[in-house]
Amino acid sequence: MGRATMLFLVLLSFGFFLATYNVMMTIIHYKIYGYGEWIISGLGSQSRGDPVLQMPEKTRGPGMGKPRFHIAVTAESSLYSKWQSRIMYYWYKKQKDLPGSEMGKFTRILHTGAPDNLMDEIPTVVVDPLPNGLDMNYVVLNRPWAFVQWLEIATIEEEYILMAEPDHIFVRPLPNLVFGDYPVGFSFFYIEPSKHERIIRKFFPEENGPITKIDPIGNSPVIIKKDLLEEIAPTWLNLSVRIKYDPEADETFGWVQEMYAYAVASALHGVQHLLREDFMIQPPWDLETRKKYILHFTYDLDYNAKGEMMPYGVTGDWEFKKRSYFFAPPPRNFSLPPPGAPESVVTLIEMINEATANLPDWDSLR
Ligand SMILES: *[C@@H]1O[C@H](CO)[C@@H](O)[C@H](O)[C@H]1NC(C)=O
Ligand SMILES: *[C@@H]1O[C@H](CO)[C@@H](O)[C@H](O)[C@H]1NC(C)=O
Repeated sequence: MGRATMLFLVLLSFGFFLATYNVMMTIIHYKIYGYGEWIISGLGSQSRGDPVLQMPEKTRGPGMGKPRFHIAVTAESSLYSKWQSRIMYYWYKKQKDLPGSEMGKFTRILHTGAPDNLMDEIPTVVVDPLPNGLDMNYVVLNRPWAFVQWLEIATIEEEYILMAEPDHIFVRPLPNLVFGDYPVGFSFFYIEPSKHERIIRKFFPEENGPITKIDPIGNSPVIIKKDLLEEIAPTWLNLSVRIKYDPEADETFGWVQEMYAYAVASALHGVQHLLREDFMIQPPWDLETRKKYILHFTYDLDYNAKGEMMPYGVTGDWEFKKRSYFFAPPPRNFSLPPPGAPESVVTLIEMINEATANLPDWDSLR
């Protein structure tokens, strides 16, 4: 046998060993974690090019032994941001140690450059806002910059990070939903990279692959490995600024441009997210909190006396709109929606009421 043939055979058997090892490990993994099934499929309705791992229900739940994740919430010192952060942190504390939770520590990343009066109530790290002018009065541009700074200065025990927002309420204990190296995100119907291919190509040139590599997500909610986020965050910041300074992209992406920037930045790093519908619900569009984790209360809620939803933007007999509370927090004991309104809306108000009843000096925030 010649040396080349020998080498070839050695490599071949090593390759075979590796393949066998991988299969074995997969099976072991499968057994240990009790995955009932492991489906690899395209996300039909979104006609994505790449396969996405979709996991069955059984893969989560208590005792899975996945590492805890750190919860990071970017916030400002406006009263509007404060009352939401207080409610969010209240529910974090209640869910954190319940069975099924893999929630770790919590940080409010305050991107105003100065401490505020919630420093003692909520663990907070103060970072700088963007230099004057660079933010072009567009406050969400501060989000990527906040993450870049925080990742640099903070000592984060956890290996994973959940990026969250003050208007998120944990409706139940949140497990670490990642799957191996795949971060997990939430698909937003209004993030449509393929629809804006021409503009997106300015930031995601052809050589990076098809537009379908860009997930229809924002940076939040996302649970991701810390080292991956450390790679993505500077690119996310860079893209946010470039999109803002590109008049066409700025106009097209408007208020969701930093979401697009995160989606494109992660794709530029070859990072793809699992999309989980149970990660978050958004009333009034989603009616039930059952088996869902985060309740996002960003949309206006308007119902008539029969508990029927009004056409979006039309005021009903009962309403809850977070944007009505820029200058004063919502009152304690907010009235429940009329009977017939969806469970998700009732639960939201009940959860807000529980938090505001228990948070000290609620009204003096005014
Ligand atoms: C973004 O990155 C590119 C390439 O590294 C660089 O030329 C550009 O100046 C950066 N832009 C911003 C706004 O940081
Ligand atoms: C909350 O408001 C309801 C009426 O909407 C009232 O019946 C109830 O007593 C109030 N509860 C508290 C604790 O103030």
